[in-house]
Amino acid sequence: MASITIRNLDEAAKRALRERAARNGRSMEEEARLLLAADAGLAPGPDADTGTGQRNAAVRGDSGPDGLAGFAGAGKTVLLILCGGVAAYKSLDLIRRLRERGVTVRCVMTAAARQFVTEMAVGAICGGTVFHDLWDRQAEHDIGHIRLAREADLIVIAPATADFLAKMANGLADDLASAVLLAARRPVLAAPAMNPAMWANPATQRNVRRLADDGVHFVGPERGEMAESGEAGLGRMAEPMAIVARVGALLDTRPRPLSGRKALVTSGPTHEPIDPVRYIANRSSGRQGHAIAAALAELGAEVTLVSGPVGIADPSGVTAVHVETARQMQAAAEAALPVDLAVMVAAVADWRTADSAECKIKKQPGGEPPMLRMTENPDILHGIGHHPARPALVVGFAAETNDVIDNAKAKLARKGADWIVANDVSAEGGAMGGVRNTVHLVSTEGVEDWPDLPKDEVARRLARRVAEWFARREKA
Ligand SMILES: Cc1cc2nc3c(=O)[nH]c(=O)nc-3n(C[C@H](O)[C@H](O)[C@H](O)COP(=O)(O)O)c2cc1C
Repeated sequence: MASITIRNLDEAAKRALRERAARNGRSMEEEARLLLAADAGLAPGPDADTGTGQRNAAVRGDSGPDGLAGFAGAGKTVLLILCGGVAAYKSLDLIRRLRERGVTVRCVMTAAARQFVTEMAVGAICGGTVFHDLWDRQAEHDIGHIRLAREADLIVIAPATADFLAKMANGLADDLASAVLLAARRPVLAAPAMNPAMWANPATQRNVRRLADDGVHFVGPERGEMAESGEAGLGRMAEPMAIVARVGALLDTRPRPLSGRKALVTSGPTHEPIDPVRYIANRSSGRQGHAIAAALAELGAEVTLVSGPVGIADPSGVTAVHVETARQMQAAAEAALPVDLAVMVAAVADWRTADSAECKIKKQPGGEPPMLRMTENPDILHGIGHHPARPALVVGFAAETNDVIDNAKAKLARKGADWIVANDVSAEGGAMGGVRNTVHLVSTEGVEDWPDLPKDEVARRLARRVAEWFARREKA
């Protein structure tokens, strides 16, 4: 009944309902049902928080650049390749989300994909023919696979199976989907989805690295439960709204304030080995550094994120380099130079053990506990601040538990940084490992106290300040 009602609404009402539904991360039918129920006093209003992460993501998306109004991909064409994985069902929602943002979606399915979702469902949702046959006489009389590749502004592969990534990495073209890709000159975005063991397999990782080197963009995979019962880990396909956001960013040809700028961001803790199984670490979660990398990338910067061991996913749209120790982080950070700006957020261990044991240190019955002799780690911020290829803007983070501002001011000069973002990491502050942060931006021009904010918002503010700094510098 709801769908009949929606179809009969006038265009303005339909548009309002569509925007409202997308803002709340719901289907139009669901939104209409909730509106009617609320009107009849039967249920909480449709603005009630649904409490699911996915819906919150949709809410965020619609107030941001991937929202319905002014979506950068509107009027463009995406060629969506569906491969044979359980996550193919999520691609039906992806098609809807793209279409309601004004994107034309053309679909190609692999033979395996047709085992998971029907051509009928995909065709009905994308509103057009679904292509799957390289030997289709109708389509191929004018070399349809070449046209499919050329007529798209962006090619999205979701879900991208381990098998398909392997074919892509090796340039195979033995079915329509792979032939289209090989003939494509457009950007390609892959959303891998597979069992964590398949994703972690060295062969898959080798293929992903090769594809990234070839310029293929990736979104996800994410960590979470798998369709197979009892299986969890890194391998879930990114949620449709996260893919939509990446599509919007890749199709956005408007100049962004940090377009053409290169940025280095360090994030997370370092792990300093004591022996092969033990290490010294700190409580840094990487949330602040990762959010800053994402915010800079959103403003158009080409970001290299050097991350210590963290339990969160790499933000999309950045090149991530994973390291463990402070010395590895220093090497990776210096290898990323030259860049225009560096934001050094990582909580780098000040010390490491002077000599880490090659074998596990054994507990001796009745013996003394082992003594750990420490030695100082390299000061990575100092190194970047005094490097011959010093970035134009160097921002350091100071994690302090007392005299936060005074310590940050002293650090500014000593480290050769332009700005220090000082945060209180005392246990009461909860910044270390938490999701909010209260920071002070310390520069030679003075101290700015920012209110208590979610780490994402701290990141966005800092990215905007960085963009303003470069804009002022360009004018001067
Ligand atoms: C029930 C089932 C679920 C599967 N799920 C996945 C998956 O999520 N990711 C993946 O890479 N392969 C998965 N596979 C294996 C692929 O379907 C298989 O490798 C197939 O050849 C992929 O073909 P395509 O890459 O041409 O789509 C699954 C297979 C089965 C039977």
